[in-house]
Amino acid sequence: MQNLTFSFKNETQMLQFGTQLAVIFKQYFAKSPNNSLVVYLNGELGAGKTTLTRSIVQAFGHTGNVKSPTYTLVEEYQLSPYSVYHFDLYRLSDPEELEFMGIRDYFQAQSLCLLEWAEKGKGVIAESNLDIQIDYADEGRNITLLPKTAELVEIITQLNNERTGT
Ligand SMILES: Nc1ncnc2c1ncn2[C@@H]1O[C@H](COP(=O)(O)OP(=O)(O)OP(=O)(O)O)[C@@H](O)[C@H]1O
Ligand SMILES: [Mg+2]
Repeated sequence: MQNLTFSFKNETQMLQFGTQLAVIFKQYFAKSPNNSLVVYLNGELGAGKTTLTRSIVQAFGHTGNVKSPTYTLVEEYQLSPYSVYHFDLYRLSDPEELEFMGIRDYFQAQSLCLLEWAEKGKGVIAESNLDIQIDYADEGRNITLLPKTAELVEIITQLNNERTGT
């Protein structure tokens, strides 16, 4: 499958897309109940990684604030039966810090791990199942989905067909 790119004129549209992504992720957990789902959010500073994460976390049932884990490295949300972990590794100086915080325990069944600046934890964090690339486009954003597993390719193709009405 080709990588899929979606265009969003404003933040509201992008937040709606986050809700659709949450549906995809829940379908993935239904099909792969013993797996974690690791998503890398890639894009420049201010591209909208945290903004998109906020709508995903809220679509999983979180009602409060979603703050950027810039200093804490990770924020966790227990949203039974799922756990959602939001990482921001921008300020990580040494990937070994992640070993100390027990990073491997986060990548469990029914855990959604959303990572900003994942490249800073290279070698220590799990490989991604899905990369989400966010790029500036005029005043809006383009989002490209790069699924790494057959299940996600299938689920995302279905979503795309629904969006385009084919
Ligand atoms: N689709 C969009 N169109 C226009 N503006 C947007 C869109 N999505 C988000 N924004 C705005 O862009 C900014 C994105 O900030 P955000 O903190 O989400 O970026 P980030 O990628 O997480 O940055 P960082 O790398 O610093 O963590 C916010 O001010 C938000 O209101
Ligand atoms: Mg951010």
